[in-house]
Amino acid sequence: MSILSGKNILLGISAGIAAYKTATLVRTLIKAGANVKVVMTPASKDFVTPLTLSTLSKNPVHSSFYNEDDKNAEWNNHVELGLWADYFLVAPATANTLSKMANGTCDNLLLATYLSAKCPVYFAPAMDLDMYKHPSTKNTFKTLKSFGNVIIPAASGELASGLVGQGRLAEPVDIVAFMEADILKTLPLKGQKVLITAGPTYEALDPVRFIGNHSSGKMGFEIAKASANLGAEVILISGPTHQKVSHNLIHVIPVVSAQDMYDAAHQYFNTVDVAILSAAVADYRPKEISQSKIKKKDTTLTLELEKTKDILASLGAIKTKQLLVGFALETDNELEYAKGKLKKKNLDLIVLNSLKDKGAGFKTDTNKVTIIDNKNNVNAYELKSKAEVAIDILNVIKQKLNA
Ligand code: CTP
Repeated sequence: MSILSGKNILLGISAGIAAYKTATLVRTLIKAGANVKVVMTPASKDFVTPLTLSTLSKNPVHSSFYNEDDKNAEWNNHVELGLWADYFLVAPATANTLSKMANGTCDNLLLATYLSAKCPVYFAPAMDLDMYKHPSTKNTFKTLKSFGNVIIPAASGELASGLVGQGRLAEPVDIVAFMEADILKTLPLKGQKVLITAGPTYEALDPVRFIGNHSSGKMGFEIAKASANLGAEVILISGPTHQKVSHNLIHVIPVVSAQDMYDAAHQYFNTVDVAILSAAVADYRPKEISQSKIKKKDTTLTLELEKTKDILASLGAIKTKQLLVGFALETDNELEYAKGKLKKKNLDLIVLNSLKDKGAGFKTDTNKVTIIDNKNNVNAYELKSKAEVAIDILNVIKQKLNA
């Protein structure tokens, strides 16, 4: 998963021969997980067809303010398109379109959409080398940069004219990599390392049986995704779950038992800035693990259990700079118990789930939490999806990191 995953990208295409590369560009953006819509200048349709782009983007492609085949059909709303976009990429950006955008000209849908867009704008220019070097083009770049727009430098090589120099549209993979790196720089958790524990632990009884619990791991995985989307590098230590994640900022370390999770957490704790322990760790494990399958004999079987190590408390005891966040799942005296755990385990924050709340806790897709900090601030949240709860938790963490 890329930082562009789930993001709305509006691709503006102007009329240069490099427009033929936009089919690959749309594919590359879609592969990165982005939603793509395309706006073209009328002349760019001579270089690449709207049909190709609508098929690849799975969205209608617009090039004029109204539907040319049916003048009574809906008006193509440039304001809506501009507001839909999280990022606006103009590729290829010709000298003509760039200059018009720098001057606020508005005689086609792409130009009008640019004026309406509030999101970050990236330009991938493509033109002949002398046009690229011309003082007028340089002035255009300067003006666009002064608006806060980003210019993705053109590549060097053979140009359509046969001349060799700078002016080629950057390759689609390089355009996407440039955007990813640039967006990452602006994210609030960029440069922060976050350790997360998630899921249940399984404590072996014999080679075929274990003691486990119903934790789905969903909450921890959502926190991992939300952290990575904010630019953090994530170490996700997960017990056995069905959850899947593929994100280039998330490193998953699969573990089975409480002891495995303890070892992995301690291996990485020194290197991280934030640790969020959402796993449902077994508090007890069988004292002896039978090497062979336990046979049934008597009507009852007594198992002797011993305590596992409390990972959260052990990290609280050695923490230095790390912001430490724990979870508490309670059934009664919730606030009091959660505050007690926060203090006892030397935490900065504790996220309380009450099993009395419908839709909260294990197995569900939703959660209802109260976040308590070490200054005794208590914030109760509504029932939300676990993805939204993850964002709430990270907002509090961001505030604490900036305090
Ligand atoms: N936790 C942990 N290691 C353990 C047990 C719990 O890291 N061996 C962490 C959980 O990931 C969670 C927090 O401790 O962040 C709270 O766990 P919980 O079971 O609610 O609390 P306990 O301290 O185990 O207390 P009790 O079971 O008595 O409520």
